[in-house]
Amino acid sequence: MSTDSKRNTVADPRYAPGTVYRRLLSYVWPHWRMYAFGVVGMLLYSGSQFYTVRLVQLLAERLSVGDHHILKWLPLMMMGLFVLRGLGDFMANYFPGWVGRQVIKSLRTELFAKYMTLPTGYYDRESSGQMLTRLTYTIELLAESVTNSVTVLFRDSITVAGLIGYLFYLDWKLTCASLMVAPLIAAMVRGVNQRLRRYSARIMQSVSDVTRVAKEALDAHRVVKVFNAQRHLAATLEAANERNRHSNMRLVSVRSSSNPIVQMISVLGLATMLYIAWLRIEVGSMEVKSLATYLAALMLIPEALKRLMSVVGPLQQGIAAGADVFTALDTPAEPAGGERVMVRARGEVEFRGLSFAYASDRPAVLDNINLRVPAGSTVAIVGRSGSGKSTLVSLLPRFYDPSAGQILLDGIDIRDLSLHDLRAQMSMVSQEIVVFDDTIRNNILFGAQGVSDADVEAAAFAAHVSEFVADMPLKLDTPTGDRGMQLSGGQRQRIAIARALLRNTPLLILDEATSSLDTAAERHIQSALEELVKNRTTFIIAHRLSTIEHADLIVVMQEGRIVETGTHTELLARAGAYATLHRLQFNV
Ligand SMILES: Nc1ncnc2c1ncn2[C@@H]1O[C@H](COP(=O)(O)OP(=O)(O)O)[C@@H](O)[C@H]1O
Ligand SMILES: [Mg+2]
Repeated sequence: MSTDSKRNTVADPRYAPGTVYRRLLSYVWPHWRMYAFGVVGMLLYSGSQFYTVRLVQLLAERLSVGDHHILKWLPLMMMGLFVLRGLGDFMANYFPGWVGRQVIKSLRTELFAKYMTLPTGYYDRESSGQMLTRLTYTIELLAESVTNSVTVLFRDSITVAGLIGYLFYLDWKLTCASLMVAPLIAAMVRGVNQRLRRYSARIMQSVSDVTRVAKEALDAHRVVKVFNAQRHLAATLEAANERNRHSNMRLVSVRSSSNPIVQMISVLGLATMLYIAWLRIEVGSMEVKSLATYLAALMLIPEALKRLMSVVGPLQQGIAAGADVFTALDTPAEPAGGERVMVRARGEVEFRGLSFAYASDRPAVLDNINLRVPAGSTVAIVGRSGSGKSTLVSLLPRFYDPSAGQILLDGIDIRDLSLHDLRAQMSMVSQEIVVFDDTIRNNILFGAQGVSDADVEAAAFAAHVSEFVADMPLKLDTPTGDRGMQLSGGQRQRIAIARALLRNTPLLILDEATSSLDTAAERHIQSALEELVKNRTTFIIAHRLSTIEHADLIVVMQEGRIVETGTHTELLARAGAYATLHRLQFNV
């Protein structure tokens, strides 16, 4: 979370502690029946404790009058009581625990589903480490606050309220005197709560920093090795790790000092009350016996307060975690697009007066782009790095929406199409690693529905995947390893091409799809690519101009503008920007 969004979270009434807690409880509510079993368990447990005391009393009474008969039944009664007590203990832990895990599971499912619908801009802002931390660590913090804490809060608040009521009944004047410290305790608890929430937020931030640093280092382990950067990364991790320890210690110190402080404040009340009682006994307006009864009830309060204070920490951590999770859940999803459905596009694409900036305060990355691409043709986009080529094609699947102008697919503004249908018209092969830790077959399938084995094999064959798979013992069912690391760059690229072939979409985007390959490997998959671009509208972005010479149209971009369009021969003849690029590359 950036400092900005943190400030927003604090100020936003949607994430005020009470609101967050009520929202958390709304996840508990559907399971209230299971929770009720937990409450029954609690009653059983405390009931059996009470009866154990009664039993001992009874025993003492009977034995004192010489009645030994009870000893015969005692073992059985004790066993019965302990069975009930054990059962109660089990139920009081198991059922709230069950509800807690259920709440965590549904929140996790909901959060992941949300992640899948977030706009691309969100991923640009928030690190994947942070998003992972929320899904794994932060959500776990909610468990305590929706299980044990609820139980204790409920039970011991009632205990305290009941005891205070009883004290009022016994002697309201004395009770008023001892309750003078209550506002002090309330103010102190409020302060403690605030600090607990603040430190919890810092801890979550530091855990996500640790995750981010570690994830980057692990993903880039080869670079780390070859640059001997282990020390540098260890130092980066150490900083985040130390922040984590520090914030945790602040939390621990608040947690461990809060109960002693509360107890010390409450002893003030006790002392005041005792002094007044003494004065009254001196003047004869109070009996010693009634003081004893009063004290017995009063002394039960600190114990209940202690239990209440012990859940304040987990509760506030849960609320801080809840605020973070709910903020993510409330982030608006990508627009679902328009109403218009599209089964299969012909593939005619037109950019009309298109401009785009990544943020309103950033300079325009695309400036008044006008381009018509006939269905089925191949367009190559060339230009220096940073000229806006990737940005231009990323507007097609609506990763971002233009700031001005429009994109038409078969004459329809793509914003009028349902987002699902729009994306079903295109596949994309890019330079990024696109292989998941699964089998090669599942990587080609990638969730595609209604596809036969023969289709997969045909795609694998056309993309020259079959060729390298033939040497593998498990063929297409060979696992690829984390991010496909057990494969070469070229093999990964061919899997990506097979995946695109299998989807057989009318639109295809190849963004530097072959730039991670050397020339020999590129030539090798050239025929796979030729297979891929057949009969579909294709946008190719490539550094190596040799791969695009046969394109139907070449578009040259410079600083977000189209400066030249034409075929390879036309553009060479014009001796403009393309000719310059060509000359630089081929040294002619
Ligand atoms: N996600 C992003 N957020 C902000 N700016 C970006 C983002 N992606 C690219 N840019 C900026 O947009 C410009 C064009 O980038 P890009 O389209 O990737 O160029 P190309 O693909 O031609 O190398 C660059 O100045 C780059 O810094
Ligand atoms: Mg690019």
